[in-house]
Amino acid sequence: MDKKNKTLGEFIIEHQTAFQYSSGELSKLINAIRLAAKVVNHEVNKAGLVDILGAAGDTNIQGENQQKLDVLANEKFIQALKNREIVCGIASEEEDDFISVNSNDKQNQNKYVVLIDPLDGSSNIDVNVSVGTIFSIYRRITPVGTPVTIEDFLQPGKNQVAAGYIVYGTSTMLVYTTGNGVNGFTLNPAIGTFYLSHPNMEFPETGKIYSVNEGNYIHFPQGVKDYIKYCQKEEDDRPYTSRYIGSLVSDFHRNMIKGGIYMYPKSSVAQNGKLRLLYECNPMAYLAEQANGKASDGYRRIMEIEPSELHERVPFFCGSRKMVEKAEEFMALKP
Ligand code: AHG
Ligand code: MN
Ligand code: MN
Repeated sequence: MDKKNKTLGEFIIEHQTAFQYSSGELSKLINAIRLAAKVVNHEVNKAGLVDILGAAGDTNIQGENQQKLDVLANEKFIQALKNREIVCGIASEEEDDFISVNSNDKQNQNKYVVLIDPLDGSSNIDVNVSVGTIFSIYRRITPVGTPVTIEDFLQPGKNQVAAGYIVYGTSTMLVYTTGNGVNGFTLNPAIGTFYLSHPNMEFPETGKIYSVNEGNYIHFPQGVKDYIKYCQKEEDDRPYTSRYIGSLVSDFHRNMIKGGIYMYPKSSVAQNGKLRLLYECNPMAYLAEQANGKASDGYRRIMEIEPSELHERVPFFCGSRKMVEKAEEFMALKP
């Protein structure tokens, strides 16, 4: 039995051998993410106090205006991963291309690549609403000792060996999976230690929350419109409650605890929706499946999709299994 006051550090060591490759490298990698999470947490928390708010002026590859904290979080995560010499490549929402990491003494001997959304929900920074970080980890496909290539990053989500997120909310939590369920750790900011607070997290089989940007309703496919009307109908345990923060991490986190569905569908103005397959949807899909939930693009399992581009987008339906299945039923009727 896991004791109540177990730290993330202790948990990582204890569970290292349960991981199928059990080399210790993945543990080091999770440790690097733990460290970067604390640094970014510190920055997020002081954002209201010092003049680091507002747009940094740059535009990222998706043509979105970067907030300063996006840039900062990106730097901190890349730095933490590079310094520890445990990854051979990094891809980030904030970088046009992937980064090849060379260790000092050994050329590309590391096995893992990491894909990150360093700051998710960035439009919420200025208004003191919770934001997050999402990460996804794969073993490289190309042989060690050679430079990483795009192939190492364009793997289907089912190849992930670990994934997780950090939510900088009323408290800061790190939630992750290495394929043996999902565990959540809460930061005690006084001493800078994450404690296991949410062991074996699971989506309730069904729930009463639907999360979607209903402002886009007019542009949604008829199947999505019909599903939304179904959620709002007075029948059985409905109408459901509508909750949408606009930070995928926070919306997912709430829905996993309470039971619900998150949707970012395709629309007549955005054929693939908005969310990015590689560093938003795949890691969340892996977590969802590990937590007894489900993730789909409306028709297919997210983790089966063969990616073709680093920054590609995909429609996303994720959450309690029965709710996602119901949404898929409506999508199949009127795609
Ligand atoms: P990011 O801040 O990394 O660009 O991601 C924002 C994403 C996601 O977190 C959120 O659920 C969604 O965009 C919100 O989009 P809308 O404002 O279009 O609803
Ligand atoms: Mn995001
Ligand atoms: Mn982001």
